[in-house]
Amino acid sequence: MTSAAGEEEFYKMSTQKPLVIGIAGGSGSGKTSVTKKIHHVFKEHSVVVIEQDFYYKDQSHLEFEERLSTNYDHPLAFDTDLLIEDIEKLLIRQSIEKPVYDYELHTRSHKRIAIEPKDVIILEGILILEDKRLRNLMDIKLFVDTDADLRIIRRILRDINERGRTIESVIDQYMSVVRPMHNQFIEPTKRYADIIIPEGGHNEVAIDLMVTKIKTILDSGNDL
Ligand code: C5P
Repeated sequence: MTSAAGEEEFYKMSTQKPLVIGIAGGSGSGKTSVTKKIHHVFKEHSVVVIEQDFYYKDQSHLEFEERLSTNYDHPLAFDTDLLIEDIEKLLIRQSIEKPVYDYELHTRSHKRIAIEPKDVIILEGILILEDKRLRNLMDIKLFVDTDADLRIIRRILRDINERGRTIESVIDQYMSVVRPMHNQFIEPTKRYADIIIPEGGHNEVAIDLMVTKIKTILDSGNDL
C-alpha cells in the first residue's frame, strides 16, 4: 500500500469481521469449481479456502483395512470441533495450522498447512451446512445442486485418476454408502441455503451474482 487512501482501505479490511461463505453440495457436484472461481476473482491475498474434507477424523491409530470400512459420508466422520475451533481463530484474525488429508491412506497426513487470516473465508464440503454451529458462523450459505448422474460420472473419473481407486470400489462405495448418505444427510441441507446453484462451476450467472454480493459486503465494511 503506497497512498494514504490505500492504507486506510487496508486498515478497514483487516479490522472488519471476515466474511464466511459456506459452499455445500454432493460429491462431484462442482462445489470445488464454484470455490475456485470465487477464489480466483478475489485472488489469494483476500480469500482463504477451508475444505471440510481436510477435517476428517484422524484414523492413524486404525489398521488400513479398518479405515476402508469407515463411512466417510456421515457427519460423525468429521472432526467438526477442530474445524469450528480453526474458523473461530480465523475470525479473530489468528493464523491456523490446517490439517492435510490423504485419500489413498484414508487418514490425516503428518503435514500441516499454515493459513493466515483473510477477509473472506470459504468453507467447502459435502456436509458443511449440516452442523448448526457451523451454519451460525456463516454469512452466506450456498448449495451446489447437480443431478446424480453427473455427480457419479465426475466422481468415477476423479477417484480413479486422483485418489488411487478402482472402478469397482468407486461403484460399490457409491451404491452402499455415498448415495444413501447423500439422500439422508446432504440433500436435506439444501433447505438451509440462501442460494441454490444449479450445475455448479458452469453457472457463470450465479457466480457473477455471488462475486458482486461479496464485493458489496466487503466494500460496506461487512455490516451484515
Ligand atoms: O471432494 P468430495 O466432496 O467429493 O469429497 C467427499 C467424498 O470423499 C465423500 O463422498 C467420501 O465418500 C469421499 N471419501 C473417500 N475416502 C476417504 C475420505 C472421503 O472416498 N478416505
